[in-house]
Amino acid sequence: MGLLRVNAVATSFFGRGSIGMLPAELKKRELKRGLIVTDQFLYKSGAADKVGLFLLEAGIEYAVYYLVQPNPSVSVINECLEAAKALHVDFLTAVGGGSAIDTAKAVSIVLENGGRIEDYEGVNQSDRPGLPVVAVNTTAGTGSEVTSFYIVTNPDKHTKMCMVDTNCMVSIAINDIDFMMSMPGNLTASTGMDAMTHAIEAAVSKRCTPFTDKDALWAIGVIKSYLTEAVEHGENETAREMMAYAEYSAGMAFSNAGLGMVHAMAHSLGGRFNLPHGVCNAILLPYVMEFNGSKKNIAERYKKVAKGLGIKDVETMSGEQAVREAVLRVRELSKRIGLAECLSDLSVDYRAFGDLAESALVDACMEDNPFKPAKEEIIEVYQKAYYGISSK
Ligand SMILES: [Fe+2]
Repeated sequence: MGLLRVNAVATSFFGRGSIGMLPAELKKRELKRGLIVTDQFLYKSGAADKVGLFLLEAGIEYAVYYLVQPNPSVSVINECLEAAKALHVDFLTAVGGGSAIDTAKAVSIVLENGGRIEDYEGVNQSDRPGLPVVAVNTTAGTGSEVTSFYIVTNPDKHTKMCMVDTNCMVSIAINDIDFMMSMPGNLTASTGMDAMTHAIEAAVSKRCTPFTDKDALWAIGVIKSYLTEAVEHGENETAREMMAYAEYSAGMAFSNAGLGMVHAMAHSLGGRFNLPHGVCNAILLPYVMEFNGSKKNIAERYKKVAKGLGIKDVETMSGEQAVREAVLRVRELSKRIGLAECLSDLSVDYRAFGDLAESALVDACMEDNPFKPAKEEIIEVYQKAYYGISSK
């Protein structure tokens, strides 16, 4: 067995009302001035102010930056960065899902390392840990509160920059379902399938280990069991709790095992057409599983995924059969929770597939795919996902 580095968030709180544990944690760290980083919806809903009350309880002064956008771009990062600099804050508090948390992570890295956010694209490009980040997570989803990844859209290149950097890990993560209960069904569905994609990609990645498998495979089973309920009955506390644990576990898995071709292709696609990350993943996932699984020595890896999905008698199956069964279950789940099945259902121009494939090839996530595909193979997977052509 090889060497293993484990990246994990310093302190995490779970459970309904766990936001109440934040003030004591902040006091211990002697933090004084904070910037809440959130979006307009969460600002208007009162979620940011609710978090602000806990900052005040810890004796912290704070301001709010509430202009985070979905798929945050370089200009959002720069604007938030200017606010943080002007206010001389000593930490950032993200209130939101992946977009808010990634914005805070990006700002924290540039604040401590200087330069521009574009300088940090790729793997471990910064020298110093970022400014401390608290993440109050509102989706069950991206796992950004526990990973060494963050994503920023680069409008000049029409793509997303993927940063993998152990210096960006948040200091305190809060997964309090009070902030998730009112998440609408479509967002619960797309973010839940993002978490499923994290778990499946981590399980078959080049860098998977027994340590990362325990998180990935557990997450696959929990998401399969609870996502539909969380989408259909968002008021079900158990379903929300289990999804929060599962997305965190999936985040732990991929923060240490890496992701793969689905994310590389989704970053390229979502960056070009400004599409929700979870929806891109949900559509691409079964097609990439079929593609990866068509390679003889790789199909075997999907046996554990099939087991995680609750498929019986996997031991007696060939790798190819396991891939087919696993793909079927993933498609069923996606359909049941109402997600689009083909890229042609979205605002996607198929003439861009060549450019998208080029970006996907150099995305940091592609490094951990079980093998490196050719550009033409990536184009073909986009085309199949566009027209809904699945392997038999
Ligand atoms: Fe993701």
